[in-house]
Amino acid sequence: MILTRRNRILRQSPAIRSMVAETMLTPNDFIVPLFVVEGTGVKEEIASMPNYYRLSLDNLAKEVKELWAMGLKSVLLFIKCADELKDNKGTEAINPNGLMQRSIRTVKEACPDMYVMTDVALDPFSSFGHDGIVENGEIVNDATVEVLAQMSVSHAQAGADMVAPSDMMDGRIEAIRLALEENNFTKTGIMAYSAKYASCFYGPFRDALDSAPGFGDKKTYQMDYANRTEAVKEVMMDIEEGADIVMVKPALSYLDIIREVKNISDVPVSAYNISGEYAMIKAAAKMGWINEDKAILEVLTSIKRAGADLIATYFAKDAVRLINH
Ligand code: PBG
Repeated sequence: MILTRRNRILRQSPAIRSMVAETMLTPNDFIVPLFVVEGTGVKEEIASMPNYYRLSLDNLAKEVKELWAMGLKSVLLFIKCADELKDNKGTEAINPNGLMQRSIRTVKEACPDMYVMTDVALDPFSSFGHDGIVENGEIVNDATVEVLAQMSVSHAQAGADMVAPSDMMDGRIEAIRLALEENNFTKTGIMAYSAKYASCFYGPFRDALDSAPGFGDKKTYQMDYANRTEAVKEVMMDIEEGADIVMVKPALSYLDIIREVKNISDVPVSAYNISGEYAMIKAAAKMGWINEDKAILEVLTSIKRAGADLIATYFAKDAVRLINH
């Protein structure tokens, strides 16, 4: 054949392939989710998340130092609340000396430059395992938003750099922004879980925090996975209400949403490569059915290629090891 264009020319060798690669992962891309528990010397593996752990504060301090040394610059904190502290209103969530508030201070003491993001939602604190206050079997919006705003201020007081509301209540970004302003937290950011879908892939995370809903599901607040334009609406509203970063969650079944959001957003877009997405790779690799390292790089690169400026992922340390290698 005589061809005027041979596309394989640009795929001939590792050198040319890397020269024309359009998407490159760096440690700056990643946000590291961390799970914190009470106690000392605790490092409990999460059953459905092999090689991922719940850490007590002393181990949290060690972990963030290690992350920083690897070039990872931000963590997203979640805490496992003791059963006896759970109630319907999430009272423990605003305890100035609660586990979340102590976790924030611990990270800032161990590693002052680490950028600390915090989960803002009631589910780990709720006796019903829901992201909002329950009244007559319903998750009520406005009363929940009030607690979320107080919770955000409490995290800012403890030293959080950015709060990350993951609850999907209406109007919470504006309420949180105003509460931060009123309390003079003018440097505290908001990363809004703007397009968060009701997903079966959250299962392992709910094991990690013992936060599974006690009744029903989360479909009256999290989005229906059938919908795309609704994600645009949620993102635009959150940006108007003052979100500094908007998030799409989960990531892998939602790469089209990440792209759509990236195209309309004038703030950075993050994506959450969630627990079930982690567990699937771990399980298949354990069975010897896929190559774990290759799967990690392919998945994370695809999320960035789709349009994510930042990726929250349990694979952050693996990714840095693989990028440097
Ligand atoms: C809830 C919350 C969830 C995750 C983060 N915050 C799950 C849920 O809605 O039940 C999931 C993270 C993951 O699965 O990795 N506020």
